[in-house]
Amino acid sequence: MFSLYIAIHKMAGHIGFISFLIILHCCSPALGSVSKAELSSFITGIWNDDPNAANSSDVTYNLQSHTSSSSPDDHAHDRLFQYVNESHLFTKPTYSAFIDLLDNFDRNTAHSEHTTSTETTEIDRFITEVTGTTVMTETYLFLHGKGYTSSTTDFRDILKSVWFTQYSRAGTSMGSNGFEHVFVGETTSTGVSGFHNWIQFYLEEKRGHINYLGYIYSKEPRKLGVHFTWFDKPKPLTTLLVGTSPEFDLAVLTTCFLVRKNTNCNFNMAGHDLTVKSYDVNYVHGDQVATAYFN
Ligand SMILES: *[C@@H]1O[C@H](CO)[C@@H](O)[C@H](O)[C@H]1NC(C)=O
Ligand SMILES: *[C@@H]1O[C@H](CO)[C@@H](O)[C@H](O)[C@H]1NC(C)=O
Repeated sequence: MFSLYIAIHKMAGHIGFISFLIILHCCSPALGSVSKAELSSFITGIWNDDPNAANSSDVTYNLQSHTSSSSPDDHAHDRLFQYVNESHLFTKPTYSAFIDLLDNFDRNTAHSEHTTSTETTEIDRFITEVTGTTVMTETYLFLHGKGYTSSTTDFRDILKSVWFTQYSRAGTSMGSNGFEHVFVGETTSTGVSGFHNWIQFYLEEKRGHINYLGYIYSKEPRKLGVHFTWFDKPKPLTTLLVGTSPEFDLAVLTTCFLVRKNTNCNFNMAGHDLTVKSYDVNYVHGDQVATAYFN
């Protein structure tokens, strides 16, 4: 009786699985059908409703002089960031999980990364914290509605694999992943590549590793184009959105990567026209972020 039950159960499970696949195959929406208006409305929604975003008194900065990406001179004798309310912002779970991740990488692209078990735990914690926020829940619902992800578990796996899969940028060493490139920054023999996050900029500047050389542009909403050196290596121009939460940057960059990879991701966010550029690592199978940034 018991084994008969198991057999029937197994068969039902099997049939259920096949019909599940047929349903998935027949009715999932075609990927890629996301209009600029839909992107704009989704991104404006998470921008306006991010309880973890910094407010105007949480973060202040001092632009000092204008410069160009080609000028090697120091046009700014003081730091870019004047004040960050660390006790307010960095104690929030997504910020603290994000900051714990920043020291996990060897910035030299030519050095292989060695991921320790603590680091794997930190990646898991970061994914858990960000996926628990309203911003990421909205992002999941948007991407799910467009057929880019099938379940919350699948969404976690996508976040992990597009941002944390190791790949090589220099020779044979597995020295990079999308998270490291975009959020931490990397050094090459001649300069800095990636490095597109304001929190990492603030922390590295505070430690004395960054010399801010001046700004190239400053646009609403707190979008700065800056020229700086990191460990004495130049970054002629990087764009920072100041005061955004880690989950907001991750949400917008992941969405643009999934729906507009290798092309401009244009949208209007609360009245501001913005573009995100993102690229896949084309020599590695599957989707991994080579870079993704607000342009
Ligand atoms: C910003 O947030 C801080 C910390 O919660 C709060 O003390 C301050 O009043 C807020 N400022 C504005 C302008 O909303
Ligand atoms: C920093 O944030 C805390 C809330 O966590 C607030 O009480 C404090 O007034 C803020 N400090 C400043 C200087 O705005």
